[in-house]
Amino acid sequence: MIGAKRVLEIGTLGGYSTTWLARALPADGTVITCEAVPHHADVARRNLADSGLADRVQVRVGPALDTLASLTEENLEPFDFVFIDADKVNNPHYFEAALKLTRAGSVIVCDNVVRGGRVIDGSSTDPDIIGTRTFLDVIGSDPRVDATAIQTVGFKGWDGFALALVN
Ligand SMILES: C[S@@+](CC[C@H](N)C(=O)[O-])C[C@H]1O[C@@H](n2cnc3c(N)ncnc32)[C@H](O)[C@@H]1O
Repeated sequence: MIGAKRVLEIGTLGGYSTTWLARALPADGTVITCEAVPHHADVARRNLADSGLADRVQVRVGPALDTLASLTEENLEPFDFVFIDADKVNNPHYFEAALKLTRAGSVIVCDNVVRGGRVIDGSSTDPDIIGTRTFLDVIGSDPRVDATAIQTVGFKGWDGFALALVN
């Protein structure tokens, strides 16, 4: 979509999506991925090494909001692409952090924003639904991005992702 070279991922688990992201990059591309659970980060590092991708992926361990604050302080070159896929309750905060770490033309994708249709339940008290609804409200009205949400139906059921282009 944008020829991304610098990718930021929030939520690594075993490195499955990280692998897809890293494989899509040109030879000089890099991924920084954030994971709270040290065991998941270790598994991801092993999987990435087995896939020959260790040289282009950095796994940062800790609560992602802390990692993102550190990345902002490090004053790095902006990321071209951000994939948000961690604890959904923090999605609005991840979006704000992603805006600080990107540039005009960067793309932000956030996974699992439909959640079997449960996201339209305005009376839900589920923190994941509330986080997702708030995130969708923000990207729908925030002039710093143009955004949409795309529903998906597959073997994992009915869900979707949000796609935002940074202005
Ligand atoms: C849905 S899984 C990620 C799946 C992965 N992106 C993939 O598609 O292969 C979410 C991950 O986010 C991590 N996570 C949850 N809360 C987090 C937080 N506050 N900071 C960093 N990682 C977090 C979880 O430990 C889990 O590994």
